[in-house]
Amino acid sequence: MVQKITHICCIGAGYVGGPTCSVIALKCPDIQVTVVDKSEERIKQWNSNKLPIYEPGLDEVVKKTRDVNLFFSTDIKSAIQKAQLVFISVNTPTKTFGNGKGRAADLKYVESAARMIADIATENKIVVEKSTVPVRAAESIMKVLTANHKSNVQFQILSNPEFLSEGTAMTDLFNADRILIGGEDTAQGHEAVESLCWVYEHWIPRKNILTTNTWSSELSKLAANAFLAQRISSINSLSAVCEATGADVSEVAKAVGLDSRIGSKFLQASVGFGGSCFQKDILNLVYICECLNLPEVANYWQQVIDLNEYQKTRFSEKIISSLFNTVSDKHIAILGFAFKKNTGDTRESPAIHVCRTLLYEGAKLKIYDPKVESSQIIQELSEQDPELFNQSSVCIVNDPYEAVLHTHAIVVCTEWDEFVTLDYQRIYEDMMKPAYIFDGRKILNHEQLLDFGFNVHTVGKKLRRPPTCRLWGSWNKM
Ligand code: UDX
Ligand code: ADP
Repeated sequence: MVQKITHICCIGAGYVGGPTCSVIALKCPDIQVTVVDKSEERIKQWNSNKLPIYEPGLDEVVKKTRDVNLFFSTDIKSAIQKAQLVFISVNTPTKTFGNGKGRAADLKYVESAARMIADIATENKIVVEKSTVPVRAAESIMKVLTANHKSNVQFQILSNPEFLSEGTAMTDLFNADRILIGGEDTAQGHEAVESLCWVYEHWIPRKNILTTNTWSSELSKLAANAFLAQRISSINSLSAVCEATGADVSEVAKAVGLDSRIGSKFLQASVGFGGSCFQKDILNLVYICECLNLPEVANYWQQVIDLNEYQKTRFSEKIISSLFNTVSDKHIAILGFAFKKNTGDTRESPAIHVCRTLLYEGAKLKIYDPKVESSQIIQELSEQDPELFNQSSVCIVNDPYEAVLHTHAIVVCTEWDEFVTLDYQRIYEDMMKPAYIFDGRKILNHEQLLDFGFNVHTVGKKLRRPPTCRLWGSWNKM
């Protein structure tokens, strides 16, 4: 019999758990949804007017549902006890030590969530992996649950990976291309899948809900992220060819993307991809392939990461070589620190790589991002090398015009819309000359910038330079 779901518990109030459960609560008024986290601070923020994550549209949904049928709590025990269905949405970072260091996903948080569920549950539960996990992780979760559960309690494990993308998470959740649910191929497994389908059917048409076996579902999540990242690395690899030949990568992307078999999305060349998922999931895939003794497959996917590193390094080196091979004591404005627009998330942001390289070369940075907190920028820059960050070399500002004032160069690291409409004529006047712009996101009007007098560099296109024989002051009349 399909179990009726009246209470859902979500362990982990992060970028995945928070938005996903807010939407479930909004769309399923008949279900009480409790999001729990071990971090009191996080839960306090979810219960305040300033949510811990920035996501367009999230505030409105939380306002409508919080304390109606959506609750944020640190009382993990009672939330698990009441729920028929428990989502595990904890973080699965790449291991930083031991076996699989730097590649394998660290499942310690997933394991600890499973242990808590086993310890607390006194009735049957459907446990749903929402966090991205390696293939066959469900098996490990089941082992932990069955080794620790009370004798009369039964569990079903489902894989239900989340495909939301930060910055558009709410629309992704409302209009998901597909919902993927993997379960065990048994009568109880099918019933559990049906219970979760019933939750999503409150707003997702049944035809968009795909049910598979557990391992296919787990692998599909890794595969989807690997395919997306591979497209970016492919176009970024061609951006280097474009810069060397005079081709324009945007024109190439358009021409290629118009082939309906290829499609136009995820072909925007850039300084490199960032975010918490792409690198982590591909490294995880590579590790799995190595463990399965599939070295050719592992090498194939590793190349997507290597190319991304190459792209970030290539862009950073271009800045240094263009600024006469030295940035020591030069003032450089960094516009954007988040890994993409419309998020305050900085995990694996290419801006970190660019800033670190410039700081190692002795540059002085002024950093502006509309949504990233200064404390977050400081943490990212000092994490690997506490010596690197000091107040005389990094200044974090709240205004883009303050960031660019008296600088030698501007580096655009994030494609925030507000950077497109800045007054670049005014900015040019306020900068040291010759003034440089490095557009790592290809969002600016390069022809206009050249007309203002800037030296402009971007990804995948060689741009006309102001002639060096002219006096600097006369450049903007070209
Ligand atoms: C990704 C997947 O898209 C999502 O389905 C999955 O659930 C989580 O991982 P996310 O990391 O939030 O989502 O953002 P995404 O839009 O995929 O962008 C990732 C990175 O690639 C960003 O740094 C972005 O700027 C970059 N990117 C994206 C490009 O450089 N070029 C593109 O054409 C697209
Ligand atoms: P994601 O991007 O996958 O959502 P986040 O790091 O944003 O990852 O969020 C994961 C959340 O899970 C964090 O807030 C963390 O405190 C929480 N968490 C991790 N392990 C546990 C646990 N055992 N019990 C409760 N919460 C946990």
